[in-house]
Amino acid sequence: MHFHPDRGFAHPVASEITPRAVYEERRTLLKRIALGAAGGALAGWAARDALAQARPGRLAPLPGARSGVAGALTMEKPTAYDDVTGYNNFYEFGTDKSDPARHAGTLKPRPWTVAVEGAVAKPKVYDLDELLKLAPMEERLYRLRCVEGWSMVIPWVGYSLAELIRRVEPTGNAKYVEFVTLADKTQMPGVRSSVLDWPYVEGLRLDEAMHPLALLTFGLYGEVLPNQNGAPVRMVVPWKYGFKSGKSIVKIRFVEKEPRTAWVKAAAQEYGFYSNVNPNVDHPRWSQATERRIGEDGLFQKKRPTLMFNGYEAQVGQLYAGMDLKKHY
Ligand code: MTE
Repeated sequence: MHFHPDRGFAHPVASEITPRAVYEERRTLLKRIALGAAGGALAGWAARDALAQARPGRLAPLPGARSGVAGALTMEKPTAYDDVTGYNNFYEFGTDKSDPARHAGTLKPRPWTVAVEGAVAKPKVYDLDELLKLAPMEERLYRLRCVEGWSMVIPWVGYSLAELIRRVEPTGNAKYVEFVTLADKTQMPGVRSSVLDWPYVEGLRLDEAMHPLALLTFGLYGEVLPNQNGAPVRMVVPWKYGFKSGKSIVKIRFVEKEPRTAWVKAAAQEYGFYSNVNPNVDHPRWSQATERRIGEDGLFQKKRPTLMFNGYEAQVGQLYAGMDLKKHY
């Protein structure tokens, strides 16, 4: 038995049983043909339009308009939904890649508040519903490069963190932004272990946080965030290693001094505050020159070269003009 949206339940004939990936590929193709775009940029646009409609249907819809921010829509093929939501780092739920998908069901993403405080004229505790309405939702297709050497391409839904920052009016003392994420033993079994000094804290310089590519993120694949991806709200900073993008944020603090982040506390010689993706600066224990794209890992699959600032150099390079990126790794 299977359910067909137009015909209801019916017994399929063998030729009717279409794997989801094939089905989606076909829809993309039809869309391309409809637009008369044979290849190149237009086909990229068509693929993204098709993507916007390919909602997995597992969680509440959260649509976003195609972003107009420069660099916000890579032409690369999105990573399959099952990989995006099944291969995760979220140590609050365990250190294995499959732990978050298996254990994050206990996270309660509602009700939820985010306290925005510190060096701002208008501190405020935002309710999630208020945050969801604060600015128009955009869909952005970003590369995500993990410091461990793998990468994905993910269609996020959210808006620039700058939208929120402007509303709280940072004072002259606000030089950095600190993100504090939930650390609740009753919801997060991994918090009982001491792999990290909880809560998971991350940070950005204020100008980095104000960059339009820095995304306050509420969804992916046109739906609200799955718990394992940091529900109900997280950061995505696409030019930095993935660990800079804290999940399940409960507090955003504007501070004068560089925040002591969880990974700097754990191993400062391996993980720096900046942690910009940089193929020329190796991790002390491995090279960062190449990456494995999740979903492409056949035995003979060649690794991809890692790009400076994860390919966002044109947009963010200026933020680091004159800085020694080997020193500020
Ligand atoms: N945020 C919290 N709170 N805890 C974590 O362990 N892991 C980071 C980051 N944010 C992490 C976190 C790392 S190492 C990566 S690569 C990304 O989340 C992974 O995000 P994804 O699972 O949505 O792809």
